[in-house]
Amino acid sequence: MELRKVQDADVEGKTVLVRVDYNVPLLEGEVLDDRRIQASLPTIQWLLDHHAKVVLISHLGRPEGKVVDELRLDRVATRLESVLGKSVLKLADCVGDEVSRAVADASNGDVLVLENVRFHREEALNEPTFTHELANLGDLFVNDAFGTMHRAHASTVGIADLLPSYAGFLVQAEIAALNPLLNGPQHPYVAVVGGRKAQSKLGPLHDLATKVDEVLIGGGVAMTFLHAMGVDVGASDVDHKVVEEVRAIQQIVEENGTTLLLPVDVVAAAELSDESETVTCSVNEIPHGWHAFDIGPETSRIFSERIIQAKSLIWTGPMGAYEHEPFSVGTKALGEAVAKSSAYSVIGGGETGEAMDRFGLSEHASYVSTGGGACLALLRGKTMPALEALRA
Ligand code: 3PG
Repeated sequence: MELRKVQDADVEGKTVLVRVDYNVPLLEGEVLDDRRIQASLPTIQWLLDHHAKVVLISHLGRPEGKVVDELRLDRVATRLESVLGKSVLKLADCVGDEVSRAVADASNGDVLVLENVRFHREEALNEPTFTHELANLGDLFVNDAFGTMHRAHASTVGIADLLPSYAGFLVQAEIAALNPLLNGPQHPYVAVVGGRKAQSKLGPLHDLATKVDEVLIGGGVAMTFLHAMGVDVGASDVDHKVVEEVRAIQQIVEENGTTLLLPVDVVAAAELSDESETVTCSVNEIPHGWHAFDIGPETSRIFSERIIQAKSLIWTGPMGAYEHEPFSVGTKALGEAVAKSSAYSVIGGGETGEAMDRFGLSEHASYVSTGGGACLALLRGKTMPALEALRA
């Protein structure tokens, strides 16, 4: 896909609105994982080197049109200051007279961070008056928020329709990195899908099942699949509402001759903690009232073998509650298999990227995407509205 690129824009002396994805995990208000902030630096630095005034726009969480103090971007702006090595001006809102004045008063080479754009319900509605207010703050628009490319919001699609707009360096890098999986991937092409909630993974699984040769399912997603197949998974988190969708996926898998593998064993516990007493058992022997919090060693062995034999690989969602030591083994084992595999491997966003970082394995994957939902949307063949808006 040919995109209009930031490096082709004349930004000298211009006010450039940059949509970034600073939707980062926070713990007690502190940024837990700054990979998305780091990933935005090349575009910001290039704009500064070319004497632009940089106005950053982002969302954080899903405040649904209300001001939520914990979702203010102040801590994110502080972290940006430290990784950029330059002070930035954090504003109290993203539109309004004070914001317009602050942007007008700033100089070329300054960096401003607008407040969480989702504090306004108009953002998600791509509402025209709000979109114009945002667009009026700048001369040009650069979208570098790969993680939100699947959202048709005011700050992703709306502004792009009003201002000359370009793809930032991160968006360009993501598209280039996902290209080998999109166009003629080498086979076997394996998708590893995990994570806590089945709901968000079923749509992608439905579409991916027709594109890949093998699907390996772990995490909470697997528990919902096993439950749908009549396996008693104890007190494991199961999404009862999606049983029909699971059956539809199983049918597609059958029709396409895709291999779908589920865990055969798990690590279970009565509660989720670092000190939990655990039992390793077959999926149909989870003790009454206990939860499966990780895949077991036999599943790790089977999945690792498939990963090592793969030629193309997408992995999204951890295999268990990897942030707790007793339940980290499965995710780590699969990360090590990715490191051993010669497959072209893409790690899709959020938690899976954080897990690879935690285990020191990130550099062994071909690419770690900053987008979870966006990465999957692209790979399953969905139209990406914000990307379409940047087409050359
Ligand atoms: C993400 O974290 O995947 C992106 O920031 C998009 O967030 P959203 O799913 O709340 O739109």
